Amino acid sequence: MKSRQISGKTKLVGVMGDPIEHSVSPAMHNMALNAMGLDYVYVPFNVKKADLAKAVQAVRALNIRGLNVTIPHKVEIIPLLDDIDSLARAIGAVNVLVNNDGILKGYNTDAEGFLHVLLEHGVEPEGKNVVILGAGGAARAIAFTLAGRGANLIMLNRTPSNAAKCAADVSNATGQTVEVLTLDEKNLSDAMERGHILVNTTSVGMFPEKNDALVSSNLIRPHFIVADIVYNPYKTRLLIEAEKAGAMTINGLEMLIWQGALAFEKWTGKKAPLNVMRKGATQALKSYEK
Ligand code: ATR
Repeated sequence: MKSRQISGKTKLVGVMGDPIEHSVSPAMHNMALNAMGLDYVYVPFNVKKADLAKAVQAVRALNIRGLNVTIPHKVEIIPLLDDIDSLARAIGAVNVLVNNDGILKGYNTDAEGFLHVLLEHGVEPEGKNVVILGAGGAARAIAFTLAGRGANLIMLNRTPSNAAKCAADVSNATGQTVEVLTLDEKNLSDAMERGHILVNTTSVGMFPEKNDALVSSNLIRPHFIVADIVYNPYKTRLLIEAEKAGAMTINGLEMLIWQGALAFEKWTGKKAPLNVMRKGATQALKSYEK
């Protein structure tokens, strides 16, 4: 595909985080922007923790239209913005910012993106028991979304005290049950007996530890839907185990694409070309896997 000429009118969007070199977002967004003929470029910014406030000021000074915000800035950026969307505020994490004439507003599209992926696969979370592994930032976004849609959550974490606050916040905000259990063999087996959907929000199974998984096929029944937020490798050990058990799988790249598509729409006001984004993200991931 022919790339566009950058001009004085070109708008700037991008992603800030640390590390950022292996992000697939620049490839995914630039391919989509090109395909739509939109006069934007998407650039990666490596921003250290200590420089976050200066980077946010720079968004205003340089009139950057919008950014994805990723590890380690998703929580720390909140007090630096002018306005926070109510869902992002409830989750306590921002992954997208939009600059409207110098007024910076933070959103969380990780949460909504996850719901879109489920619905696209024909999965309605209402009334389902969802087993969530982990209790970090990604778990919070997913837990708020699922509980908001009427799912009952069973959150298992290596350190249960880390999960308690998350569970209480989600339960208070949504009125849904959120059970917290220590991540051990017995609790996992008990939760999987009752569950319909399993979501791994931990980094277990991420490259280079490709052979690790928190759940093996003997605990997964065929009616399960198994989602993994890890997208490198594309098919994690957990998803291989789920396939072995005959369950439906949803990979982390789909979630990345959907959160990106929702961000794209906020910056450009145009519907994101999902298939183009999928192609850009997949190509970039393949080039890293080599
Ligand atoms: P993120 O913001 O991307 O979700 P995070 O906040 O660092 O990342 O959260 C990581 C989650 O993965 C935590 O729930 C962590 O468990 P602890 O609260 O006990 O630290 C979980 N996690 C990370 N490595 C793990 C491992 N090897 N086994 C089990 N859980 C793990």
